[in-house]
Amino acid sequence: MAVVSGKSSLFYSVPAKNASVPSLSIALILLLVAGLEAESVDDGRNQLFAGILRDEAVERINQLAKISDADGYLERTFLSSASVKAAQLIIEWMRDAGLRTWVDQMGNVHGRSEALNTTAETLLIGSHADTVVDAGKFDGSLGIICAISALKVLKTNGKLHKLSRPVEVIAFSDEEGVRFQSTFLGSAAIAGQLPASALRTSDKNGATIQDVLKENSFEGSDASLLQVKYDPESVWGYIEVHIEQGPVLESLGSPLGIVKGIAGQTRLKVKVSGSQGHAGTVPMLMRQDSMVAAAELIVNLESLCKYPDRALTYKEQCGSYKKESFSGLVCTVGEISSWPGASNVIPGQVNFTVDIRAMDDDDRGAIVTEFSRQVYQICDNRMVNCTIEHKHTAEAVHCDSELSQQLKQAAHSTVKKMSRKIQDEVPVLMSGAGHDAMAMSHLTKVGMLFVRCRGGVSHSPDEYVSDNDVWAAGLVLLHFLDQHVSGDCMSS
Ligand code: GLV
Ligand code: MN
Ligand code: MN
Repeated sequence: MAVVSGKSSLFYSVPAKNASVPSLSIALILLLVAGLEAESVDDGRNQLFAGILRDEAVERINQLAKISDADGYLERTFLSSASVKAAQLIIEWMRDAGLRTWVDQMGNVHGRSEALNTTAETLLIGSHADTVVDAGKFDGSLGIICAISALKVLKTNGKLHKLSRPVEVIAFSDEEGVRFQSTFLGSAAIAGQLPASALRTSDKNGATIQDVLKENSFEGSDASLLQVKYDPESVWGYIEVHIEQGPVLESLGSPLGIVKGIAGQTRLKVKVSGSQGHAGTVPMLMRQDSMVAAAELIVNLESLCKYPDRALTYKEQCGSYKKESFSGLVCTVGEISSWPGASNVIPGQVNFTVDIRAMDDDDRGAIVTEFSRQVYQICDNRMVNCTIEHKHTAEAVHCDSELSQQLKQAAHSTVKKMSRKIQDEVPVLMSGAGHDAMAMSHLTKVGMLFVRCRGGVSHSPDEYVSDNDVWAAGLVLLHFLDQHVSGDCMSS
């Protein structure tokens, strides 16, 4: 039976406002709760560190959510002034957890605790401090704060200075790719995957990554980028806690899940150039309207990604696709702009972004090829000029089976301790969202823990993780550290 003891149960639920509960039942519930609370004195619950892992962690997530570049909604992009303020706060919290801190040449914030064994490889734990536009408060922040909180518990109970290997928390400076439309600037630099040419990428205002780095007193040179890279020999593995951003865990009634792999992604920028003209004078049959061409391209993309086997088997371009292939295929146009953007002008130029994801890299490649073919064909038919720029590609990632198993065991003991019920298997799922773990997989083995969110909503201010689920995530990290890094095991 799931324990319904208010604060400590993961499965705690609030009765509906007007629900009438017979008074006898209330009395029985109160007796039961009182019994469980009395029992909790020596049941190990005082090892669950709710003050640090839940209350303080939630307060910090809320504090970070108030640091925004925008009025009225959350937005923090690569090295914006809000990002710099957030970094300062994260540094304070890392120090409070007993970590030595520094900021690297790509703006990533590091907090590290050394080990007794000075030659041992480091365990890295991280997530990103940047956000999308009009973001939720858990995407990225949850992983950073849970990691800092778990280490603060180790400091509190005197285990931080007895680690068997160094542990380092990293708050990455860019994962979302909002400002420069190229994701993982922070983690890719650490993994040695960011080419120096990336420093010359510009944002919408023409400022390059290099300019922005220099404005913030970083060197912004090819050599300084190289300094950010970690030596794979010095790293043991990377783990990341992240909000699930989908509905699976909630539908299974499970607060936590283990990530098996992460979908690969391609981001494109399509530029459509037509003939700018007067909305009142150019006859419909004589137009080269870039907006209508863009609209046709976008609708075609949608049907290609909804029914990929139709387009691809019919054209027989990519061999025979099985019905069950194209797993996790999703395509999105999230940003569009037109020039000059006035109601009485036929737009001369329309630019839009395309985001294509799939679990299988060959499937994704086939969709990108087919979409590009359709773009050029439709643009030819409409007598407009189109170009496609590849902004970002990340291959699908498989999480390390051993790290995943270790995280699974830690999640299992956490759920057992918090709910004290016989726990089903911790779910294992794929991630359609991209994560820093993708970039870090080029450096070391990676493992990820997902945390349930309400309604599967993310990249939205409605994103929500319950306080108890934040606590559960911190506890999993603590169990993991206790089992594999502190050399001094928690009872499980
Ligand atoms: C990151 O949140 C992504 O998947 O776009
Ligand atoms: Mn994220
Ligand atoms: Mn995100």
